[in-house]
Amino acid sequence: MARAYNFSAGPAILPEEVLKTAQAELLDFNGTGMSIMEMSHRGKDYSAIHQEAKENIKKLLNIPDGYSVLFMTGGASTQFSLIPMNLLAEGETADYITAGAWSTKAIKAAKKLGCNVNELANTAKDIPTRVPGNDLEFTPGAAYVHICSNETISGAQVKEFPKTDAPLIADMSSDILSRPLDVSQFSMIYAGSQKNLAPAGVTLVIIKDELAAKSPDTLPDLMRYQHILENDSLSNTAPTFPIYMIALVTRWLLEKGGLEGMQKQNDEKAAKLYAAIDASDFYKGTAVPEYRSPMNVTFRLPTEELEAQFVAEAAAKNMTSLKGHRSVGGIRASIYNAFPPAGVDALIDFMKEFEQNNG
Ligand SMILES: Cc1ncc(COP(=O)(O)O)c(C=O)c1O
Repeated sequence: MARAYNFSAGPAILPEEVLKTAQAELLDFNGTGMSIMEMSHRGKDYSAIHQEAKENIKKLLNIPDGYSVLFMTGGASTQFSLIPMNLLAEGETADYITAGAWSTKAIKAAKKLGCNVNELANTAKDIPTRVPGNDLEFTPGAAYVHICSNETISGAQVKEFPKTDAPLIADMSSDILSRPLDVSQFSMIYAGSQKNLAPAGVTLVIIKDELAAKSPDTLPDLMRYQHILENDSLSNTAPTFPIYMIALVTRWLLEKGGLEGMQKQNDEKAAKLYAAIDASDFYKGTAVPEYRSPMNVTFRLPTEELEAQFVAEAAAKNMTSLKGHRSVGGIRASIYNAFPPAGVDALIDFMKEFEQNNG
């Protein structure tokens, strides 16, 4: 059975080399006679992996001193609530930039907690889809500004981040480690693991130590950034297998030359696919060209019936999970770091053939 060209938005494709390493180490990790899943999270073999995962992320993103890398659970969605719980004190206001379904969920979670939030811009319902520009009026003295760097459902990405005096917090769940980043622009970055990092089960948080120190003592320990930071994300049993997979995926990225090379490959894959969409009247991209995501390429066909037929025929050719998110329909090709360039070529060939037969 050939591996599928898996266009899933998440859990998403993982690098084949990484899966082979994990497979080879499954029964006997490092001569221990057991898998990494079966050993103590406090033992020396797992500890080395835990530190490697953190160090690789620091290296890849060139993270300056004064930040910590944390591993938490509950997915990026839990962060939507933990951010205001930890970082928004009574009487303070937080600014939110809403650009799609995920940033809508983030501001909703803060409102649910009764927090003071100021929505600086909202492009969530715009068609074609886009993210707001940077003509934003920040709240003076805001506790933080929240933004989603890549809206996975609409396929729109922030290309340049707003400059603000307040701490900038970014949900990078669907484009983390896909491009080099000046981390010093941000006070916190977070991402669920299931797209560019690992299987589902761990949430990466990169946070400025001085921001984590704001976490109130009254919160339960496992919901406090400062507690997680002080305990090196090991105060309770860590999700050891997904963290191990982060170590392997980040090792793979380093071996491939880091994020510059990865960005080049991602941009080449995306440019080819968008060019194929633009070259035809049959396919229509859903995102404004200047904000097109290189991770989630979204487009429409003339009718929903043709879209359903397209998804089914592609699946029969081993190109899977091309159906757009249930809330918006259409087609979505998620082509994360691990998605092979040959799979993009195969999709483009199929698109041409499908248009010839049905256009
Ligand atoms: C941008 C973005 N933020 C947040 C989430 C939610 O992540 P999780 O399912 O880990 O809670 C997703 C999930 O797909 C996402 O794409």
